[in-house]
Amino acid sequence: MKYLLDTANLDAIRRFYDIMPIYGVTSNPSIVKKEGKIDFWAHMNEIRSIIGKESPLHIQVTALDCDGMLRDADAIMNKVDTNVYVKVPVNMEGIRAIRLMKKQGINVTATAIYSKQQAFLAMEAGADTVAPYFNRMENMGIDPDDVIASIAEAIANYGYKTEILAASFKNAGQINRAFEAGAQTATTDPAILEAALSQAHIIDAVNAFDRDWKAIYGDELLSTL
Ligand code: E4P
Repeated sequence: MKYLLDTANLDAIRRFYDIMPIYGVTSNPSIVKKEGKIDFWAHMNEIRSIIGKESPLHIQVTALDCDGMLRDADAIMNKVDTNVYVKVPVNMEGIRAIRLMKKQGINVTATAIYSKQQAFLAMEAGADTVAPYFNRMENMGIDPDDVIASIAEAIANYGYKTEILAASFKNAGQINRAFEAGAQTATTDPAILEAALSQAHIIDAVNAFDRDWKAIYGDELLSTL
């Protein structure tokens, strides 16, 4: 199980890389918009320098047509680096772009996945990663657990090298379900990870341990006994 941060916020990326076992960083144009009109390439390179060369960084194309997506991928390769995973939405233009990018040896993440069929076609087109949108599927009455389980089954049955990068989460329970259904990786807003470790019952437990210790040893700590 690997966790990625679905954010372009530099402070959050620095903080969570310092605290948690984070595998990589993803973004899309809506996530970038939250940062305002940043110097895009300088910002992406700053993310790279925070997370390191080995940590997967996924950057989404913004062009709507295949040729434009290929030019976007070229810009990403030249202005950031060739380790980046280029995120491509799985529609008619995108699936063609995925095939052509794979012929150039580019790492590709197939994104905006709401159905098994999109994922299957993206895997057959050679995508390294597929990103099913968990919460958005649930909102549409599509069973995301079933979609992810079918993708995982297809990977096992047909020997695809594709990794499932589940995305679009609104709570920690959805992330757990994605992993249980067979996703190897999940990308999430850092706030969801923080909330998972900051629930009142956790704080209450820690405070009770602290009170009991202090009742015996006062302000002495294990390390100062
Ligand atoms: C991944 O990078 C996806 O684009 C993202 O998780 C979508 O999340 P949303 O449904 O909250 O917009």
